[in-house]
Amino acid sequence: MDSMQRIRTAAETVEKAIGKAEIAVILGSGLGDFGNDLTDAKEISYADIPGFPLSTVQGHAGKLIAGTLNGKRVMMMSGRFHSYEGHSMEDVTLPIRVMALLGVKKLIVTNAAGGVNTAFSAGCLMMITDFINLAGKNPLVGENLSFFGPRFPDMSRAYTPELQSLARESAKNLGIRLEEGVYCWMSGPCYETPAEIRMVRILGADAVGMSTVPETIVAAHSGIQVLGVSCITNMAAGVLDQPINHEEVMEMGRRVRNDFAALLTDVIGKM
Ligand code: HPA
Repeated sequence: MDSMQRIRTAAETVEKAIGKAEIAVILGSGLGDFGNDLTDAKEISYADIPGFPLSTVQGHAGKLIAGTLNGKRVMMMSGRFHSYEGHSMEDVTLPIRVMALLGVKKLIVTNAAGGVNTAFSAGCLMMITDFINLAGKNPLVGENLSFFGPRFPDMSRAYTPELQSLARESAKNLGIRLEEGVYCWMSGPCYETPAEIRMVRILGADAVGMSTVPETIVAAHSGIQVLGVSCITNMAAGVLDQPINHEEVMEMGRRVRNDFAALLTDVIGKM
């Protein structure tokens, strides 16, 4: 099956099961249960969507949910695909193209990330203003799917300034600390070395993580507006004199969950 046919088949199945939406959210580690905040929700498991890969990471359930949140129809991806799991770039970004076919115009991408900027602290939220791609991969490599966008798409506004303004406003109104900065995509799955973190700091990164950039690139290619928010679950390697532990990363994600959910709920209401 060619790429376009694969996307269309998946999109038809999703539409039949849960319908369409103009706003979508990708739930990163810790936010996995945010889908429970939707009312009138319908869901479909990735296993029931033809062509969808299966998520293998703990804390990433693997379903699409659509419903209403703060007066808006929203589709949520609970569980995302990472390239470190062995998924191809095409697989990692398939859901974004399915969303594009289903009429999604605004996408909120969330993740857990390590804090590179020493002014940050574990547990804060960071709105992504730009990205650096150090993973050595790009989801647009290969035949251009011109149905979605151009061969050489502009990335100078990959994270939409208007959506950033809304998020700033929401954070201010809710009294939630919202830092801002550049997210650097590293391939993982090992956490970075202290030397790598010193390097990315010199390069201009404020946070590092193992996701989000492929989805952002494909969304931007399709003309979808993107808002990115990272939960700084830990300070990146070498910033503090302590090792990074996946369990602690997940635990911090859970602790920040309510603020994160409140912020997104408010922003969605404004979209
Ligand atoms: N590095 C990369 N990815 C991450 C980190 C980190 O320190 N914390 C959470 N996701």
